[in-house]
Amino acid sequence: MQTFTTVKALRTELNLQKCEGNSIALVPTMGNLHAGHIKLFEEAVAGADFVVGSIFVNPLQFGADEDLDAYPRTLAEDKIKLEQSGCHCLFAPPAAEIYLDDADVQPVIRVPELALDFCGRSRPGHFEGVITVVNRLFNIVQPNQAYFGLKDYQQYLVIQRLIAESYLPIELIGIETQRETSGLALSSRNNYLNEVERENAAQLYRSIQTVAEQILKGGGDFCQLESNAKEELITRFIQPDYFAICDATTLTRATPQDKDLVILAAAYVGASRLIDNMRVQLY
Ligand code: PAF
Repeated sequence: MQTFTTVKALRTELNLQKCEGNSIALVPTMGNLHAGHIKLFEEAVAGADFVVGSIFVNPLQFGADEDLDAYPRTLAEDKIKLEQSGCHCLFAPPAAEIYLDDADVQPVIRVPELALDFCGRSRPGHFEGVITVVNRLFNIVQPNQAYFGLKDYQQYLVIQRLIAESYLPIELIGIETQRETSGLALSSRNNYLNEVERENAAQLYRSIQTVAEQILKGGGDFCQLESNAKEELITRFIQPDYFAICDATTLTRATPQDKDLVILAAAYVGASRLIDNMRVQLY
């Protein structure tokens, strides 16, 4: 696997690949790779001729009080995992390669309406940072396909809108959330959990599952279902940030007439903020 740290060197390689008629897939990450990321790479390797993995801890998507400095940087271990996944090339740029100078570290792209609530509300500026860096990575790599995890469902929809509104010729591929046997969604932030917190954290998915089952059985009082779930989380030492039943396309609050739903949840377990979701289709 080749590693590039500059746009120029990466582009030289990508031009060669494109001249040979190879399709390009991009898997953007912030590193600290776990089995959830590796699944993205395996799918990308199966779906494209040449896979670029990017590792860049994007300062623009972290709030002032968030964990940018503490965010785990594990490049040496990540490289080994990428090699094993079959990834062809790693792009691991320094910040100055993505944001040309300090004045450039500003979001430049308007986020769509569906980015404003949930993680957008709890983490002001987060999606502006995500969309800005993903847009730059798309411009740099110009991939045929891009792979993202569906654990970050709202992020996935934000990127879907970016691609649609910018008419980018990129096929967006969402990969199902990978889970521990307890049901806990794999996330780099699970590393911050101690043993007890890890056990408690699995309740987030269990509560989502319970609500999904109730909806499938005809439970139509969504407000009540949401508030029961939040109460249950609190009894398990989880502090809910949001727990919402939404239309899966617009992320507006679902009505009993909606058929394609997503349950979105974010919660604090100890100091870690975890997110999860489940799609519920009523047809
Ligand atoms: O999901 C992530 O890891 C990040 O938000 C992403 C898409 C790599 C952008 O920095």
